Amino acid sequence: MNLAENLVFSKKQGYRQSWLTAYDYPTARLLDETGIDLILVGDSLGMVVLGQKDTIDVTLDDIIHHLKAVRRGVSRALVAADLPFGTYKTPDQALANAKRLTEAGADAVKLEGHLPDHINLLVSSGIEVIGHLGMLPQHVREEGGYHRKGKTETEAGALLLASLALQSAGCCALVLELVEAGLSKDISMKLDIPTVGIGSGTFCDGQILVTPDLLGLQPWFRPSFVKPKADLATPFRNAVKEFISEVQAS
Ligand code: KIV
Repeated sequence: MNLAENLVFSKKQGYRQSWLTAYDYPTARLLDETGIDLILVGDSLGMVVLGQKDTIDVTLDDIIHHLKAVRRGVSRALVAADLPFGTYKTPDQALANAKRLTEAGADAVKLEGHLPDHINLLVSSGIEVIGHLGMLPQHVREEGGYHRKGKTETEAGALLLASLALQSAGCCALVLELVEAGLSKDISMKLDIPTVGIGSGTFCDGQILVTPDLLGLQPWFRPSFVKPKADLATPFRNAVKEFISEVQAS
């Protein structure tokens, strides 16, 4: 069974996918040890690691650098990597750059948008592709912010059709970002491949989050849909303060 067949099979069995992001070796290794299904080297890298204001300036070389570190820490989970903004303007460019990601250790690549021809070429060349619809962070500048998708009938219809087209093009899974919960439920019921939601309600076939958001490591920015499971910024600061005090007292 290839990855796409595997994911379709597990969806049929009612399995729920848990996915998280990682950008470095220790995080990837800890996530792998906890039993996460898939680790994404996302272009959220720009925001949560590189301190950039959005994902647009992340380069393919940035992703490859972090992907290699993540790959070294993972022996069990699937590893996926984002094709960053501007690296898949044509299907051929997408293929050349997706090959660089698979050579660097990605089991699958993810790209944003309704691009069935790109996906078709990648999949027919043996590359597993994860689609990404709804709010597309690589378009945040032209959209002027992170807006929920699928509120109007027209937008909802277009998203459903795009989801079906990406499945037909060969995607093995589909990330739905900031999509109305009712619509993501509808899409999830109509697709054979798993949908993996972020800020899209609980009806998707799985969930993905940016790991620093989950762990409370970015106290200065928390997307409204994230319920952090820890507040690691506090013990982090306390440990550093304790270290400073000990050094000063010695
Ligand atoms: O870049 C990223 O981290 C992502 C997900 C959170 C879906 O694309």
